[in-house]
Amino acid sequence: MSQELDKLLSPAKLNGLELRNRVIRAATFEGMTEENGGPGDRLISHHRMVADGGVGMTTLAYCAVEADGRVRDTMMYVHEGIRSQLQRFTDSMHDASAKVSAQMAHCGGFSQNRYLQKKRPMGPSFAVNPAGMAYGIPFVQEMTEGDIDYVIQCFHDAALLMKETGFDALEIHFGHGYGLSQFISPKTNKRGDSYGGSLINRMRYPLRVLEAVRKAVGDDFPVIGKMGLMDGVRGGLEIEEAIEVAAMLDKGGVDALIPSGGTSSMNPMMLFRGDSIVNGMIETEDSPLMKMALKMIGPVMFKKYPYEELYFLDGARRVRDRVNCKVIYIGGATDVESLETAMREFDFVQIGRPLIKDPAMVNHLREQRGEYKNGCNHCNVCASLIGHRDGIRCVLND
Ligand SMILES: Cc1cc2nc3c(=O)[nH]c(=O)nc-3n(C[C@H](O)[C@H](O)[C@H](O)COP(=O)(O)O)c2cc1C
Repeated sequence: MSQELDKLLSPAKLNGLELRNRVIRAATFEGMTEENGGPGDRLISHHRMVADGGVGMTTLAYCAVEADGRVRDTMMYVHEGIRSQLQRFTDSMHDASAKVSAQMAHCGGFSQNRYLQKKRPMGPSFAVNPAGMAYGIPFVQEMTEGDIDYVIQCFHDAALLMKETGFDALEIHFGHGYGLSQFISPKTNKRGDSYGGSLINRMRYPLRVLEAVRKAVGDDFPVIGKMGLMDGVRGGLEIEEAIEVAAMLDKGGVDALIPSGGTSSMNPMMLFRGDSIVNGMIETEDSPLMKMALKMIGPVMFKKYPYEELYFLDGARRVRDRVNCKVIYIGGATDVESLETAMREFDFVQIGRPLIKDPAMVNHLREQRGEYKNGCNHCNVCASLIGHRDGIRCVLND
């Protein structure tokens, strides 16, 4: 076995937390949330397969820190009423000797949640909310300083509950066009106060969130940041600024960064690469109006990005060279050769689609070493199924 595969499969520490190996299941919203907004048996068994399959740590995807932080009403949101479900989830992962992280997020103004408690989704600046057109929420309302303080408190309280219910690490979502990245991006943040304008100002809210989460969990608990390398739209975040975002998050106290890119709201294919998800999304969309909108905007919004292995390698290297914290590679680490490259250069690797295709990937790598073939062909049907009532699956396994 190569030295790199040895490294991949050997234990490693993240702020004192020992993982049995360096493979972390990436956050992939599975669309299997229970009606009360918590994880149930289906989500547990989905992640349990990944835990039994040998990963060092799995990640419970997109845990909104309040009900209005959900892009869709079918997403999870952290509240007291799901305490026992969260505990069952982490107990099950621990029974399989895997560690478990939760991705904490807020959608900001990017929302199609029909059951919003507030009148409108809230973001950095007033704007049109294309995702909400068909759901009667076509506009984004500018957050007041009081709204900002409120969401920061939600992150704090959610972090406390996650830690109390057995999560070993937390991943804050600073990317992909969700609430915190809407403040970081000059495309969506048009504020004239101390939360807008210069990068220091645009980072004020995300850094306050990080501070609040850190305060909730303490210094000796792993806090990871998933960030964007670029938005992939004109006037959006570009790589030069993103490297400074990484440096600021590092200084702000993250233990590790995951450099991703693109935005679910404006340029989703950039973060996946491979076959377009638009046709699948049209098929699974319930709202006839949204179906029509997707058909119309599909070609503009879902740009072509042919799949290639390690498609965020250059950006991830630049982040690594700028920060002191650990860097977790994500994006197209499917082949053994790519995993070896990732291990030569980074501390951990996050894997999404290949672990949907083969939840026992780590055990198989251990057995088959350099001969391992994953088989994910990046058809991205899994990603187009996030809105499907049965949740995601790999259709190649059908
Ligand atoms: C079905 C699916 C759902 C996803 N949901 C999320 C999510 O909830 N949060 C997130 O940060 N990224 C999400 N992603 C993106 C992945 O975390 C990851 O960045 C991307 O798939 C690239 O990694 P991969 O090449 O290993 O799949 C999702 C990806 C897929 C395929």
